[in-house]
Amino acid sequence: MTDAAKHLLLIEDEAPLRQAIAEQLTDRGYHVEQVDAGEPALTKLADFAFDIIVTDLRLPGIDGSAVVEAAVERYPDIIAIVVTGYGTVKDAVEAIKRGAWDFVSKPFQIDELLHVLDSALEQRRLKSENAYLRAQLEQRDRFEGVVGKGRAMSRLFQLLETVAPTNSTILITGETGTGKEVVARAIHQGSPRRHHRFMALNCSAIPETLLEAELFGHVRGAFTGAVGNRQGRLEQAHKGTLFLDEVGTMSAALQVKLLRVLQEREFERVGDSHTIKVDVRVIAATNSDLGRMVADGVFREDLFYRLNVIPVQLPPLRERKEDIPLLVQHFLEKFAREGSGSIPAHKRGVGGSGERVERKSVSQEAMRRLMAYHWPGNVRQLENAVERAVAFSAGRAQIDVGDLPSEIQQAQEPALASAVTLPENGLDLDAFIGGIERDLVQRALERTGGNKGQAAKLLNLKRTTLVEKLKRQR
Ligand SMILES: Nc1ncnc2c1ncn2[C@@H]1O[C@H](COP(=O)(O)OP(=O)(O)OP(=O)(O)O)[C@@H](O)[C@H]1O
Ligand SMILES: [Mg+2]
Repeated sequence: MTDAAKHLLLIEDEAPLRQAIAEQLTDRGYHVEQVDAGEPALTKLADFAFDIIVTDLRLPGIDGSAVVEAAVERYPDIIAIVVTGYGTVKDAVEAIKRGAWDFVSKPFQIDELLHVLDSALEQRRLKSENAYLRAQLEQRDRFEGVVGKGRAMSRLFQLLETVAPTNSTILITGETGTGKEVVARAIHQGSPRRHHRFMALNCSAIPETLLEAELFGHVRGAFTGAVGNRQGRLEQAHKGTLFLDEVGTMSAALQVKLLRVLQEREFERVGDSHTIKVDVRVIAATNSDLGRMVADGVFREDLFYRLNVIPVQLPPLRERKEDIPLLVQHFLEKFAREGSGSIPAHKRGVGGSGERVERKSVSQEAMRRLMAYHWPGNVRQLENAVERAVAFSAGRAQIDVGDLPSEIQQAQEPALASAVTLPENGLDLDAFIGGIERDLVQRALERTGGNKGQAAKLLNLKRTTLVEKLKRQR
């Protein structure tokens, strides 16, 4: 047996037979405990999670079938094998109905029993492996659409895994185009609320008066133009998630009303006095510094704390350049699926139509420029650049530097020294240089997937020197 030893409970009233079986199973690596009746078996099962029970069907007192049933009820994953005497196949079938895995008939060779056990264990292993794989797949699907593998994004995924299933209010901050809405949707998808609605409301896109009606709904005649009763986004998001984008732009009056929703989960439609209760999870997003707005007195402190229960910060793209190649592939695939980035069949030297869509590739030089650029518009800007490059490279299988917007064509890995300015009150040179060194070593290791030899080569160092540096950095 390759597995760690299995714990097996053997229940048989004929002592010599029981001992013989126990000895042989022990020889094959099983941990065997023996009892001679149903009652003591139940006692043992109450205390210990055996992997397997092998039980005679005809027992004094409680019979084997009942033991099987009790065992399976308590431990759905236990493997129960029943041993039957002559002419009791009917009983064996009954035991299987009650949860036994298989049966062997007396008299049997030990190999027969071993074979049944092996195959049961193997099937059980496959079953749990499948369950595991399925769980893994579901896990991956949960944050589908959020691309990133680097350190910053891995940390983000970890956080999302923990907070998505909860009801906690989340505040997502990040520069424009960093994926705040994508992440908000992913959180909704990763929560038990995914079968209900995800309602998004951009607080900066709508004039103040309309925003209130949009959020809370209104009754007929509440204001000029309010011709009928209308549900607001809050009501529509009942049992689901409400995404409040650009929450920093909300007026003081609306901030108070939102605070009440967060505290009481209740509100009234505009022009109505009837109080409505809702069950919503709120995710807010902003690209302004709400903390600073609180300090400046333009955002309510109490609301800030209510929103900022779980802060999720999205890194700007220039701080996760290692994800750029992945994102580029992601967008190339997306545009290929949408039809704009697929390569015409005759260019690929294959005929026919309706075959698999193949996406374009990007020359390494173009990829270097993409990675050197500072991306003030973050992922959104990258997405646009890829879309444009796909169009510009029409008819070619590869995107090249010339297909990129000119500011990106000109991007070059900035010489670090020129990017550094001396702060007003000076700096600690050694600590500063040390910081840059640590950062570059880390990046080199990240780029090479932790391969120290290759990382050393990237930094033009001997491997031993790199190892020394790593030791000192610890
Ligand atoms: N991690 C990511 N993986 C895949 N696509 C992403 C990712 N982040 C952003 N995008 C894409 O970039 C675009 C911008 O994303 P999103 O709208 O979520 O950004 P945002 O932070 O809400 O921007 P803004 O502050 O301007 O509203 C979208 O098309 C989105 O699909
Ligand atoms: Mg947005």
